[in-house]
Amino acid sequence: MAESMQGLKRTHRCTEVSAANVGETVTVMGWVAKQRNKGGIIFVDLRDRSGILQLIFEEDKCGSENFAKAEKLRSEFVVAVVGKVEKRAGAVNENLATGDIEIIAEQIRILSEAETPPFPIEENSKTKEEMRLKYRYLDLRRPDLQRNLILRSKICTEVRAFMAKEGFLEIETPILNKSTPEGARDYLVPSRVHPGNFYALPQSPQLFKQLLMCSGYDRYIQIAKCFRDEDLRADRQPEFTQIDMELSFVDEEDVIDVNERLIQHVCKEAIGLDVQLPLPRMPWQEAMDRFGSDKPDTRFGMELVDVSEVVKGCGFGVFTGALENGGSVRGINAKGQAEMPRKQIDALVDAAKGNGAKGLAYLAVLPDGSYKSSFAKFMTEEELANLVSAMAGEPGDLLLFAADKNKIVWNVLGALRIDLAKKLDLIDDNKFNFLWVTEFPLLEWDEDDNRFVAVHHPFTMPMEEDWQYIDSDPGRVRAKAYDIVLNGVELGGGSVRIHQDDVQEKMFEVIGIQKEEAWDRFGFLLSAFKYGVPPHAGLAYGLDRMVMLLVKAESIREVMAFPKVKDASCLMSEAPNVVDDVQLEELGIAIVAQETEEEGVGLTE
Ligand code: AMO
Ligand code: AMP
Repeated sequence: MAESMQGLKRTHRCTEVSAANVGETVTVMGWVAKQRNKGGIIFVDLRDRSGILQLIFEEDKCGSENFAKAEKLRSEFVVAVVGKVEKRAGAVNENLATGDIEIIAEQIRILSEAETPPFPIEENSKTKEEMRLKYRYLDLRRPDLQRNLILRSKICTEVRAFMAKEGFLEIETPILNKSTPEGARDYLVPSRVHPGNFYALPQSPQLFKQLLMCSGYDRYIQIAKCFRDEDLRADRQPEFTQIDMELSFVDEEDVIDVNERLIQHVCKEAIGLDVQLPLPRMPWQEAMDRFGSDKPDTRFGMELVDVSEVVKGCGFGVFTGALENGGSVRGINAKGQAEMPRKQIDALVDAAKGNGAKGLAYLAVLPDGSYKSSFAKFMTEEELANLVSAMAGEPGDLLLFAADKNKIVWNVLGALRIDLAKKLDLIDDNKFNFLWVTEFPLLEWDEDDNRFVAVHHPFTMPMEEDWQYIDSDPGRVRAKAYDIVLNGVELGGGSVRIHQDDVQEKMFEVIGIQKEEAWDRFGFLLSAFKYGVPPHAGLAYGLDRMVMLLVKAESIREVMAFPKVKDASCLMSEAPNVVDDVQLEELGIAIVAQETEEEGVGLTE
């Protein structure tokens, strides 16, 4: 039978008790991590969110009634214990913060009994993630998850403190919204009072934060929930949190400045990391050319080399064909990998194909200087020597090439570079490499829709010096947009916004949004702009990603209390679920039967 606290008050969390309290009587409350009965003496490890504390029960100290209760204890029972702090009689446990003390129990109350949990509550769990997520409330008792969530809370506190000092106001924006233009699918919420009408959950507070600038709240911050119905990955959830900000009367430099100092502050306070400012910057074009990615991981080299000029006119049709089609030929040098077994090379080729390549050509420079290659037979000795030299190839190196449209080549080699670095263990886990990627293209050609689309969103300001090309060569126009990248992950992104009517109208025209459509979708913003709009700019971080990177977790699921799995369901609550007919009727909704593909609930990556 569970007892009540009967007026007992907790005096300390487990690890708040220390050698300084020796001789004092304390009251601690928590979960039984372990109970060992050694005959006349019972050892109990008590756990709460702060850590572990050792309790000792001896019949002559606590009396037979309390001793009998201690005998009954099993893992995860919730107890309150009153006892005296003493120096450890046995050996000091260096692994515990409280390893030099113990509590000699005088009184125990069993506040709740517990069934045997389906998996052990322990650090570095080996339990399958599906199981952990089904019983997330138990999983969340594990010390590693507790540390992650405590750090997440600390990061939010530090962000708020820093931003408040910088003059930012925290303002909430609505969750029931009209669609925001971030490019993912919306989550829709049916309206009962307006049958057939739907709210869209915000993909970001973008339009509202721009409105707040129009209203004069010149520095806004919000830790905001965002919703995007898109394919999930290790760093993507349907529901996630942004640290979202917007500033008025500023340009790109001001946004970068305050954010660099914010990053420095948060890293120092959260994990004691010293970040040197200013952070490095790299234009988008350079990032693509050198790393094949707009979020380069700069913790290691193995950069891409454009060999288009070198292979121009060579005998290998795959290369020359790509060049004739306006593409390029680029390679990476996997140093010292010439002896990579054929099977592994084939796996790299398959991965490249998975990323859209038609193939991946390779040339191994063997230690004796001869070649093993999928294409050497199509090239002369001289052409091969030039190619190897362009790649700074030495005996022992494996050179890998992709030939195609630039976008595909970057994609393939960018992914190959990361893949190889992981396999070859080239990445130093202790590095935190921040990087601003700037000068993104404003527009991108959408092959499916046969039109230009905004790379960021349609309110992003073009770079003045490129605006002249907006009609003749729209793809050439760069944007005042910037991403902040950490260790190859896009941590955040933002831009200077358009605040001039004519530029905005032109922008809509180029991306094929008719005036009526623009007004229909964003009319409230366009209208606000007519009543006095300050120049403004902003940025949003993915908070989940920030915490993930700072705690070196593999996935954002490890830093969110209740994440979802690949098919966007919650294994614990079993959301989403069917609703009853009455609810549907009230909403004026009829369900159309659909053939469903049997899809696993699997986790991604
Ligand atoms: P963007 O779409 O780049 O910009 O989003 C900003 C940051 O949010 C994080 N993020 C995600 N995190 C987890 N799961 C997701 N599904 C997910 N999608 C995005 C990323 C990303 O860098 N309104 C603009 C910002 C601005 O212009 O001010 C925006 O939302 O870390
Ligand atoms: P094939 O002549 O198609 O057998 O290709 C010869 C070699 O070139 C093989 O190793 C292919 O994987 C590779 N290859 C084919 N297409 C491409 C491409 N677009 N880029 C790089 N290598 C390719």
